[in-house]
Amino acid sequence: MASSRQDEEVQSTNDDAVNSKFSAVKLGYWQDPYIQFFSKFSSAIDRKPPELNRGYYARVKGVEYLLKQFLKKTDLKCQVVNLGAGSDTRFWLLSDQNLVPLKWVELDFEPVVNKKIRIIKSKKSLMCKLQANNHDGSSDSIPDVQIKPTEIHSNIYHIVSCDLRDVCQFKSCIDRCSIDCTIPTAFICECVFIYMDPHSSSCLVRTISEMFSDIFFINYEQVNMNDRFGEVMLSNLQNRGCALLGVQHCLNFQTQFDRFLKCGWNGIDGGDMLQIYHGLPQDDVQRIEKIEFLDDIEMLTQLFTHYCIVWAYKHSTKNTTTTTATAAAATTTTNAVTDFSTVTNDISTIPVSSIAKSIAAATTSATTAVTTNITTSTSLLDDSGHSSSGSGSSSGGVVVSQLSGKLDFSDISLFIYK
Ligand SMILES: C[S@@+](CC[C@H](N)C(=O)[O-])C[C@H]1O[C@@H](n2cnc3c(N)ncnc32)[C@H](O)[C@@H]1O
Repeated sequence: MASSRQDEEVQSTNDDAVNSKFSAVKLGYWQDPYIQFFSKFSSAIDRKPPELNRGYYARVKGVEYLLKQFLKKTDLKCQVVNLGAGSDTRFWLLSDQNLVPLKWVELDFEPVVNKKIRIIKSKKSLMCKLQANNHDGSSDSIPDVQIKPTEIHSNIYHIVSCDLRDVCQFKSCIDRCSIDCTIPTAFICECVFIYMDPHSSSCLVRTISEMFSDIFFINYEQVNMNDRFGEVMLSNLQNRGCALLGVQHCLNFQTQFDRFLKCGWNGIDGGDMLQIYHGLPQDDVQRIEKIEFLDDIEMLTQLFTHYCIVWAYKHSTKNTTTTTATAAAATTTTNAVTDFSTVTNDISTIPVSSIAKSIAAATTSATTAVTTNITTSTSLLDDSGHSSSGSGSSSGGVVVSQLSGKLDFSDISLFIYK
């Protein structure tokens, strides 16, 4: 396990995140009246460069679009767990839009949680949302809010300190928040796994897939780290005492996808931030592009192509039957209740293009990798650990999974590169 000096550096990345978000919010990239409470950012000197503001805009909006689709698809009868939540303010933003799920849980290291709790306690507009949220809409019973230095438990909102490298701790935190593992649950993980060694993040991903029946996972992280730009990013952070221990999962889309597919997940998709940015509502993109002049498009492109959002899902797999195929489609049927395969960043632009564009943007070996990955994913469903399809069989219609009674072939295109 990493030293506590290393842990402190990792915790301080939350300050960077919150200050950068506040920089962008102050300029009008998006609305967030709550972020100011968590930021020490004050003067114009701290103003972030335009490419960073655009980067945060794409990240915040990309995750938000995915999460909102999940919330709508489940009709809010769901739970959200934010891993390494830091000073994330989404709970309050969603409360303002009446989009709160049954449970909202935030986990992070103790010092980060401790600080967040102190701020929550001191701000009426944050506290009142914890008290106001009665999911059934009733107003007569004011729910209790239990506040301790390292955890808050209210009717919906929970925050608990947890070292995510320790799965026993994770399980006990989930228990303390009265999470029901049979209810559809979304996990958000923004820039967190990169600071954990690959074994720990894989263990956590596997534990989640074993504990929960219907899960949707949104992971924002580095990708394409196998080049010069990636090397420079690594050494800059290393010099600061903050090693990117999880970089092995961030070499390309195959390594990103494998973390999930090797740990029992049924379906996966993703795109680099350039694709996500182009997939966001373009009227809003045009609006934010007018906020600041950006002369270094090359730098923005470099940044965008080294970060990604990957989203994975797993449904309960009672009665799972897997048919891996050579030319014909491989089909997995499950009796899951909710089909998350249609939850994507922007259905019109992301699905096929996400894979296709990532292949185009990546190296030749990565092209093989993504194709192989899709093929492998089907065989991983039966835990064989080996691909039984011929290589490059993407045109053979390989499907990660479909749900019985809900077969919708338009969904298949999410997972096929042609
Ligand atoms: C870059 S910050 C991102 C914070 C937040 N997710 C966001 O997007 O604003 C990374 C966060 O992950 C947390 N983190 C990293 N490793 C962790 C671990 N092993 N256990 C708990 N939290 C961790 C850090 O403390 C920090 O708050």
